[in-house]
Amino acid sequence: MTERDIKTMKLYTNIERIKNELAARGMLESEFIDPVALCDIDSMHYMGMSAIKDSIAALKLEPSSTVLDIGSGFGGTSRILSKSSKCRTTALELQRDIHEMAEYLTKKCRLGNLVTHVSGDIILLDPNELGGGISSFDGVVSFLVFLHISDKASLLEKCAKMLKPGGTLFVEDFYCRGNFSEDEAKSLAKDVYAVDLPTKDEYISQLKASGFHNIQFIDKSSEWTTYVQERLVKFVSNRNQFEDIHGEPTYLSLLYFYEAVAKLFSAQNLGGVRIIADMK
Ligand SMILES: C[S@@+](CC[C@H](N)C(=O)[O-])C[C@H]1O[C@@H](n2cnc3c(N)ncnc32)[C@H](O)[C@@H]1O
Repeated sequence: MTERDIKTMKLYTNIERIKNELAARGMLESEFIDPVALCDIDSMHYMGMSAIKDSIAALKLEPSSTVLDIGSGFGGTSRILSKSSKCRTTALELQRDIHEMAEYLTKKCRLGNLVTHVSGDIILLDPNELGGGISSFDGVVSFLVFLHISDKASLLEKCAKMLKPGGTLFVEDFYCRGNFSEDEAKSLAKDVYAVDLPTKDEYISQLKASGFHNIQFIDKSSEWTTYVQERLVKFVSNRNQFEDIHGEPTYLSLLYFYEAVAKLFSAQNLGGVRIIADMK
């Protein structure tokens, strides 16, 4: 995968929308921004803060904890993890423009002492470039990233390698629930940049093969279907306000993406899952 390939997914273009939104809310010139106030701007996963709070509880985070956030996007999750529990978080992001925006936001939130941003690909990066290296993290979190990485064996082995013995993995992602039609498979590949999504059984057996145990596979399909449908309705009803801030091309681009995802979940072959698993 290259940074350019993944840009077929329209959520990852027009990223100047983040600064446009800050300006519209009078936050761009602020000396300090509360990371909680950024949550509905910087989050690219579902259920925003509530999903992050669940990960903090599942990982039992405390000030001495170290966390790796794989595919950290604009860094919202990492900032909330560290702001809430005072843990140290390494935020790893593939796309350089998104990584740079994340660093900028972390500086604005004055969390640079707790959140370290790294740019790169989890599959290719040398573990020594991530926090304390091999077996150094108490927790690995990842929200809506694994779907982009078809080689789940290498990915889960990397997660296992980065965790301390007894450390916990918390992942929210897509899985294959039914048989995708040809159109669904095409939309997944182009609009969502997802290929080779595993079934539940494939996911669990790969987790076991990578050394995880106490595996919880919590189905989120119904909750997320409602979430993406409501997101689309809200986005369309706010069209004028959105276009005043960001312009029509950005509106149309995001509309295309939100419609594609709502259609995929509504057809019920695409599933959503929260995985929590411990390293032996
Ligand atoms: C849907 S976004 C979610 C971002 C963030 N986790 C959040 O919840 O807001 C997925 C992110 O994963 C990143 N990503 C995809 N493949 C990656 C890889 N191999 N290594 C690191 N990051 C990756 C993408 O660039 C994108 O920013």
